[in-house]
Amino acid sequence: MEAARSKARPATDADLIRVDAGGWGLTWAADGNGRLRQIGLGPVGHLAEPTLDLRWYPEAFPTWGGGDQFRPAPLRVTHADGTLTTRLIVDDVVRIPQDDGEHVVVRCRDALLALVVEHHVRAHPSSGVLEQWVELEHDQAGPVLLSDYDSIAPLLLAAPNAELCQFGGGGWADEWAWTTEPLTPGTKVLASLGGVQPHLQRSPCALLSLAGPSTEHDGEVIGLSIAWGGNTRIGLDVRHAPDPAAPRELRLRAGANADGAEYVLDPGVRFVTPTVAWTWSTVGRGEVAHRFHEWTRARVLRDPQRLRPLVVNNWEATFFDFDEARIIGLIDRAADLGADLFLLDDGWFGTTHPRDADDAGLGDWDPDPAKLPGGVSPLTAAAAAAGIRFGLWVEPEMVNPRSDLFTAHPDWIVRDRREPGEYRNQHYLDPLRPEVRDFEVDVVDRTLDAYPGISYLKWDANRPVTEPGSATLPADRQANVWVDQVHATWDVMAAVAEHNPDTELMLCASGGGRNDHGTLRHFHEFWTSDNTDPVTRVRMQWACSQFFPAAVMAAHVTRWGAQPLEFSSAVALSGRFGFDLDLASLTDDEVAICRRAVALARRTQDLVQQGRLVRLVSPVEGADRSRAATAYVAPDRSRVVVFAYQLEQPTGSPPRLQLPGLDPDRTYQIASTDLTADERQPEPDATGSQLSAEGMAWPLPSPRTARIWELEALPGR
Ligand code: GLA
Repeated sequence: MEAARSKARPATDADLIRVDAGGWGLTWAADGNGRLRQIGLGPVGHLAEPTLDLRWYPEAFPTWGGGDQFRPAPLRVTHADGTLTTRLIVDDVVRIPQDDGEHVVVRCRDALLALVVEHHVRAHPSSGVLEQWVELEHDQAGPVLLSDYDSIAPLLLAAPNAELCQFGGGGWADEWAWTTEPLTPGTKVLASLGGVQPHLQRSPCALLSLAGPSTEHDGEVIGLSIAWGGNTRIGLDVRHAPDPAAPRELRLRAGANADGAEYVLDPGVRFVTPTVAWTWSTVGRGEVAHRFHEWTRARVLRDPQRLRPLVVNNWEATFFDFDEARIIGLIDRAADLGADLFLLDDGWFGTTHPRDADDAGLGDWDPDPAKLPGGVSPLTAAAAAAGIRFGLWVEPEMVNPRSDLFTAHPDWIVRDRREPGEYRNQHYLDPLRPEVRDFEVDVVDRTLDAYPGISYLKWDANRPVTEPGSATLPADRQANVWVDQVHATWDVMAAVAEHNPDTELMLCASGGGRNDHGTLRHFHEFWTSDNTDPVTRVRMQWACSQFFPAAVMAAHVTRWGAQPLEFSSAVALSGRFGFDLDLASLTDDEVAICRRAVALARRTQDLVQQGRLVRLVSPVEGADRSRAATAYVAPDRSRVVVFAYQLEQPTGSPPRLQLPGLDPDRTYQIASTDLTADERQPEPDATGSQLSAEGMAWPLPSPRTARIWELEALPGR
């Protein structure tokens, strides 16, 4: 049968599967053998016309043993009868129109064995982002084993000087560290592990500059993000080209990281891989950032139009050492400063085992009577009386051995048959147990029911999985926990979001351990990193803003790094602004700086959170990394805020701050501040075209200084 179908014939339009992702896209087609081929991909990929017999085109999604046996394959299945190879042929193509694009499903089946593999490609042309994932199901005599199950596997051409940009990699407090490196022949894998806070190990996002180094405004760049709250993998297999000047073939794979642990899939059960969101810009990385921001707002974020609150958190002010009077004192200070919300962090709970340190109390979500004799209500009442909202920290997925919960349910934790290892003195509750999921949802529902004054929660998760396994899974399916646990956790988060639609949720996992577009669907924002040293933070926020809008990036002023308060404040103001300071011990001068920062946040938070980001001076690339500057422009271009930071001793000559994207004909009134003086300094008016061509002079001569400009278009022309 296969041989009969293999006769060459010219492709017709009806054969072509075109997906337009908004200015770029892909064309696939089934060849004469029914194999899915990549005819075109990239800026004009959706318009590609085949000129060769389709069998000469690369496979769109090679399977192990399906053709190219000599490269890592995105899909590797051991079938129920022991067959190691998979050979897929296209069965049908379904196009499902959406409000905002099209969802194309290419349904394939194995030529020999009862396995169905669907490629889902969902275009979102208004942002220019493509979502892609794979769904698998089989009807074989027994389970099949999945050893690799990526979501995308395009074949790309990489110039000899092509570059990869990856993020993080140093563990806690090192999220989003920016590394650019050449794409050399061989296989490179960027993988995260640990299940619960994998993105402390490695970000699920990456950039590829295929045609050679790219900049903010120039070059061909692919940006991708694996929307997965578990272990992820980005694989880059570059094949050496005999001619050193010729482009090299690059097979890109991205999806969940199986890490050698086979997923056992039973007949009739649908396996869905993570969504990979990706885009392809021909005008540099700024456009990649813009598209990801638009897509995140349109397709990921809860309540994207709602301005995020100005938060005062107490963690770094008090750690576990507080009582009712101290917190009420901080609430009053927060209100006096003009905050929207006071967030009470870790340490408020534990009755039999008070949470006075990180070794007790997790799991027992009743207020500690020693610290809070009247419970949480006096605090919510104090916040209400002061005119601000109240938020609370929870870590529902975890338990300390020293807790009533662990005493009652020692069997609820994730472990194997060995003595389970503690990590931050705690264990991870097994979300595959229905009673654990009920407990976790109930922790939140019960807390919010008991204290109606709470309208914001910080949801933390402070350990990875170290002895994976679940008593709910049979012996031969223990490794399924890596994937099933993500879905189970998302079910809990979805239930919480559904039951409490008006409660804003911050996502945190020892800082930025869950900085992914998948988990973020259930939240309003995330804690970008525990590292709040403003010099490091500028660089982290620069990298994070490549994929996430500033509304998502919680950024609090702290004492980390012992930097000047006006500098730390200016850095936090370019994210979702807040404080994590002991407001009760500020000097008068420091209070004045905080007040100026709050006033500035009030004037600019709509721009920062919802405007268009324009990144002007990079702190992570090039010879001079001592400076950074970013701008946020209102959608109608009538207002702009520009942040400039001198991070370190200046190296190189100062740049001019040229501002593209303003209305060239309008005149902008400009005022600047560095938060050390009350008055904003008026600066000469300038037209949009002057600001774009000549720009503004770099004003900062010394390290750890910042300047913020507010621009407003004068009425008329
Ligand atoms: C994690 C978070 C911190 C803080 C502590 C509390 O480390 O990232 O912001 O909430 O937990 O224990």
